[in-house]
Order: sequence, then structure tokens, then C-alpha cells
Amino acid sequence: MTDTLHTAPSTELLTDDPTWWRQAAVYQIYPRSFADSNGDGIGDLPGITAKVPYLTQLGVDAVWLSPFYPSALADGGYDVDDYRDVDPKIGTLAQFDEMIDALHAAGIRVIADLVPNHSSDRHVWFQEALAAPAGSPARARYIFRDGLGDGGELPPSDWTSIFGGPAWTRVADGQWYLHSFASEQPDWDWDNPEVREDFLTTLRFWSDRGVDGFRVDVAHGLAKSLPEVLPSKAELDALPKADGDHPLWDRDEVHEIYASWREVFDEYDPPRIAVAEAWVEPSRRARYASASGLGQAFNFDLLEADFDATQFHDIITYNLDAAEASGSSTTWVFSNHDVVRHATRYGLPALDGRDVKQGAEWLLSGGTSPEVDVETGLRRARAASLFMLGLPGSAYVYQGEELGLPEVADIPADERQDPSFFRNPGVDIGRDGCRVPLPWAREGSSFGFGPGDAHLPQPSWFGEYSVEAEDADPTSTLALYRAALAARRDLQTDETLEWLPVDGRDDVLHFVRPGGWHVVCVFGTEPVDLAALGLGGAASGGAASGGAASGGAASGGAEVLVASGPLSDAGQLPGETAAWLRA
Ligand code: GLC
Ligand code: CA
Repeated sequence: MTDTLHTAPSTELLTDDPTWWRQAAVYQIYPRSFADSNGDGIGDLPGITAKVPYLTQLGVDAVWLSPFYPSALADGGYDVDDYRDVDPKIGTLAQFDEMIDALHAAGIRVIADLVPNHSSDRHVWFQEALAAPAGSPARARYIFRDGLGDGGELPPSDWTSIFGGPAWTRVADGQWYLHSFASEQPDWDWDNPEVREDFLTTLRFWSDRGVDGFRVDVAHGLAKSLPEVLPSKAELDALPKADGDHPLWDRDEVHEIYASWREVFDEYDPPRIAVAEAWVEPSRRARYASASGLGQAFNFDLLEADFDATQFHDIITYNLDAAEASGSSTTWVFSNHDVVRHATRYGLPALDGRDVKQGAEWLLSGGTSPEVDVETGLRRARAASLFMLGLPGSAYVYQGEELGLPEVADIPADERQDPSFFRNPGVDIGRDGCRVPLPWAREGSSFGFGPGDAHLPQPSWFGEYSVEAEDADPTSTLALYRAALAARRDLQTDETLEWLPVDGRDDVLHFVRPGGWHVVCVFGTEPVDLAALGLGGAASGGAASGGAASGGAASGGAEVLVASGPLSDAGQLPGETAAWLRA
């Protein structure tokens, strides 16, 4: 490889600043549900290309594309048949190149989702493994074992997969293979040098095509250490999760793999970046975020929190300290393709620390119980998002949250697609409700998603949340995100904040960023007097409840830059509302 291959895209808007990712606003596209160009009901790459103006106007720095590789969609594309191609159902490599060129020309970077813990069962190497005998080199790329019992008819252990059901599946000759997720997703054996080498090839393949970085799926799962006699599920569950020596998760050796990836990332200019999806103890996240490894890691702490000032304050403080200690920047995320959308979560009763996924019970009830307070959910989601976009670090925005889109709960069983629904009946309803194709228009067969229908059913109320409807409304959530992202570009400076005391109110958070950028959020329902926060004169009359506040500056006072809801004339920030001000 020569260096000349690896120069930055020659567009004016993309700088070769190697730190571009540290405080980027990254928009997650779930390609099959974003925009459908040809009416077959499935979102595609030309659909993304056609929406570049939308992304530009939204004001994001990068997009992260969930998997677009050939796949039978046993797990929404996280079952990859071929890591170095595009699924013919959604495009071609040439269309990928066109898409990346269009995004780059608009100054938007591209992050590809890489799925290294498992392939699909249709991957050539898995097919080769099935055709090869037990003990063969072809089987050694995956994790095959003999079964227990006289004829090996019992699985090698009683482990369950993350999606429910057994973690082992038997093949024709009687051996079993391990799959941490669905049976169509066999786990790679990362001790195998061929597997390691093949992923380096994949990293170069996409980097050479101009991909700016990678989101690394299940980054804490690759390294495994399986003894001859496997522990039982109960024994496994009882093992400490945070000592780097669990047989399956978050093993210390996984970082040797990422060190070898870092060498590849650094062959490019600017270096390719990566962000780890690592569901690990907060204290162990820094290893993934290290500059000699992937460089950045998601923290899902805010996503798992209630809309609560104390929880937010403690999470933010912890993660900013942790990021500083690791040398990385932190990441913030409320919604993605795996969880109930935050506009809905915040309309449900708080979990108060109960160990249940937010929204899980509500989804199981078909969206009927407990009842969602849609208005409260949206008001809080807008406040939380504006508050989050004011934080130092990278902000990840999931497609549709800029519309305030709620979760879709009432998808009929026979139209569901997610394996966690099929593998865990009655326990898990699956993640289809946050993956319903986006509404672009008020009306039409798929609300403008494409000229045909949508691959998951859209509810009748989707049109109200469409881009078309919100584009025309200066108080819409779309207007709020556009205003916030535009202002953020101008305001973003050092990765620091200073908390300011809020006397007598433990439900209000107030911090200031360098340059006099104040961010205030009222988590409770009582308004707060901005003058009491030292932000007097900030009353901005009819400041639009979305979008930039109009005429926010009173002479000598603070200027309201953006607010998640209307401010009162009396200089009060209402309950469940956030604002950015310049003092
Ligand atoms: C990650 C993805 C999720 C997928 C799983 C298995 O958690 O975000 O969508 O099902 O990995 O690849
Ligand atoms: Ca299509």
C-alpha cells in the first residue's frame, strides 16, 4: 500500500483535521428504513444520496450507516454474508461510491458499521465450514464443539443467546456451533489468524473507498476463552464482569485486536476513526476508547437514565472525567436502532432504577399499558436533546429523532422482523418499532418513504411527524434540531463545561461552556427564573418553541440562542424545557 492511495477526499468542505470526530454530530442512518428510491419498500443507497440536501440542512458532521452488506436480514443486516460488498437489495458498490462522493462533497463524513463478532450463516467461510469435516481448518474459523451426552445430542453448554433460545446450534454431522445472537449469526473464532487478517482486508477495503471510520458492533465480544469443560450458564452469570477474564465478554485480549486495527487506521490521512459498541462496566470503557485502540466508545448511560436532573448530572460528570482520563472525547446517545425511541420512553413512568429496559413492558402490552403521555414525552425529549447537544463530545442522533418520532408499538406479529421477537416469545417484542421507515411526506402510500409501500407498517399518524409537515412549522422538532446543530457548529470549543449552582432547585441543571455558552434544562414541571441564574434579560417573548429564539437579546442581558419550548415574557424557562443562552 502506498501513501498516495490514502489521501483525504479532495473536497473543500472536508478538512484533513484528524480530530474531526471528537465533537462531531453523527446521524445514524438505518439504510433499509431511511429512503426508498425505487419503490420496492426497502430503503437504499440512492435513497440516501437523494437526501444529502436534507442532511446538509440538518447540519450533521457525519453519518453512521447501519449494515448495508449482503444479508438475509435474519438480524436486520447484522448478519453479514459478505463484508466487502453492498446488498443488491439496497444498491451496488458503484452506488455506494456515488453516495460517499455526494456526502463528502457536502462536507459530511461516513462511518460504516462493522460486525466482527459474527458473520451470517450464509458467509462463504461458514458454508465452507459446514461442508468440511469436524476438526478441519474451515471449522476452526468459527467456534465448533462436540455435544454432550452419549451421542453428542446435547449442546456443549446450557448457554442462552442474547436474543433468547440456545446459544448453540447443531449441524448435520452432529457438531454444534456457538452463536451469541441468532442461530444465523455464528461467532467467529478470533484466535484464528485468517479471521484476523480478513478483517484487516475489510478495513482497508472500505477505507480505500473513502469511508472515514467504523462503528464496531459488539466490540466487547470478539475475544473468547473457552475451556475444554465449559462452565454452566449459572456459573458464567456468577463470574465477575469487570476483571477482563470473563470467558465471553470484555476480555483484556480484545484490545490486541484493536491495536492491530489502529495500525491500519493510521495508514490513512486523516486516520480512520472508530467507535466501539461495548456494553461493559463504565470503568472499563476507557480501554476501548484508547488512542492505541478504537479511539472512542459509546456510553449508553443517558439512554438508560430517567429524565432526571440528578441522574443526568452524575452521568455527565462521570463520563467527562472518564473521557479526559482516556484521552478520548465522550459520546452521547438517547436513541438508536436497538431501543425504544426517547420521545416515547420519556412519556412512560420512570423506572426508578428497576432493572427493566425502558419501554419493554409497554411494548409487550402492544403499546397500551402503561399509557404513554405523548405530549410530555416529546416535550422532555426535545429538552433532553437540546441539553445533550450542548455537551462536550460527540452527539449521536438516530434517524427520526429530529422529527420527535415516537416508537411504533402496534406492529402485527406477522409483520414483525426482529429475531428477538421470534426467539423470545412473550418476553421480548423486538426492535421493529424504532425501525419503521421514515415519514417524509404528510400523505402517500409510505408517507414519502418511497414510491411504493414500506417494509414495516407505518401508523396512520406518521404524516404529522413527516419532514414535509415539520419543515413548514417553525416550532417543529425538526426546526429545533436544525437550529441547535447550526448554533452548535459556531459555539463548540474546548471539551469542557463548568456546572453552575442553581439555588433551591435540584431539578434544574445549568452549565457554561467556554465563550459564554450557557445551557439550562428544567427537568421538573415548575418554571425557573432565568434572572435568578444570572441570565436576566433573557425573556424573548414569542421565541418559537422550536428553532432559534427570535430577538432574544435584551440590552445588557443574556441572549436566548435556541430553546426547546417557548419562554414566557417574564423571563422564565418553563418546566421540562431547555435553552441555550449567551451571557
Ligand atoms: C448490536 C447491534 C444490534 C445487533 C447485535 C448483533 O448490538 O446494535 O442491532 O442485533 O449487535 O449484531
Ligand atoms: Ca429500494
